[in-house]
Amino acid sequence: MKSPKITARAHTNIALIKYWGKKNQELIIPMNNSLSLTLDHFYTDTTVQFDSTLTEDIFTLDGKTYHDEKVSHFMDIVRDLANISTFAKIDSTNHVPTMAGLASSASAYAALALAASQAAGLNLDRKDLSRLARRGSGSASRSIYGGFVEWQAGTNDLDSYAVPFEEDVDWDLQMIAIVLDPNEKKISSRAGMQTVVATSPYYPAWVESTTADLTKIKTAIQARDFTTVGEIAESNAMKMHALNMSATPHFSYIEPDSIKVMDAVAELRAQGIPCYYTMDAGPNVKIICQKQDTQKISDYLTNLFAPEKVLVSAAGPGAKIIARCEA
Ligand code: ADP
Ligand code: DP6
Ligand code: CO
Repeated sequence: MKSPKITARAHTNIALIKYWGKKNQELIIPMNNSLSLTLDHFYTDTTVQFDSTLTEDIFTLDGKTYHDEKVSHFMDIVRDLANISTFAKIDSTNHVPTMAGLASSASAYAALALAASQAAGLNLDRKDLSRLARRGSGSASRSIYGGFVEWQAGTNDLDSYAVPFEEDVDWDLQMIAIVLDPNEKKISSRAGMQTVVATSPYYPAWVESTTADLTKIKTAIQARDFTTVGEIAESNAMKMHALNMSATPHFSYIEPDSIKVMDAVAELRAQGIPCYYTMDAGPNVKIICQKQDTQKISDYLTNLFAPEKVLVSAAGPGAKIIARCEA
């Protein structure tokens, strides 16, 4: 017996206000609300089919087969929900560097949540899909939706999920990703944030100031106040990276080339071009700008880095099913 074969596509999202710490690790409940922009350029396609002849889940990523504990654990959650015990074949393709701080876990688990739940015969609404995606990776809860999305921290499995803040973004905001190093990072987001929560003396201050940043950025987005949005996003990202340096053992995702991009952004601003940067758990930097300035900014960057490392994104859509094959 085989289930329908479902392919889902989900786009990555980059947080302007970061999630960096959990209050419940098993359920992935975050310490604070976060807010992101879903991107059109980076995404994951994942196909799932349950098959009663399988004796374990078979997971393939970019053509290579892995035994992935996180994927199996996630599939167990889907099986529990659907009340089935069948294993599945899971085939995934990342159109985003894997584990490089470009949010592959967000697009990955949003696509897997949609494909696996549909293949298992569940027809979840977007709130429940967001809750399910969250169990795979926190940031994935936000990739169910397009545009600006807020993940409301909540306190338990039922009330921790993302909601759209502005799904159809009629603002020409863009993000330029500078892919300095597409290789896998040494410290996963999961491990990094856990060390920080457990050891940084500044953690309570992070939660407090991030809560204030979120309120301010929402007002600024609604007012289309680009300068304020950029200033808050840049400062929120740097507060997150300061946490990493204040942890025991201390660590950092910032590489010499990351600083080169940050300096370039400061120089562009000094020249009167409005742009700001953000950085996640990896050395790659994303620049937030308005479309009218994208060309000037990417010209400046392609003088410093190879042109293929400079990738322009606009706001992207939510997760969707792109193929369904009845068994
Ligand atoms: P990133 O910055 O890319 O989100 P993380 O530190 O969150 O990096 O780690 C990414 C996690 O997501 C890893 O556990 C990786 O194996 C997993 N992952 C990435 N892409 C996929 C995929 N397409 N399907 C399933 N798991 C994936
Ligand atoms: C820095 O969602 O990858 O990108 O929930 O443990 O899978 P897990 O972590 P993950 O963390 C993302 C951290 C971040 C900030 C953000 O996306 O909000
Ligand atoms: Co991630």
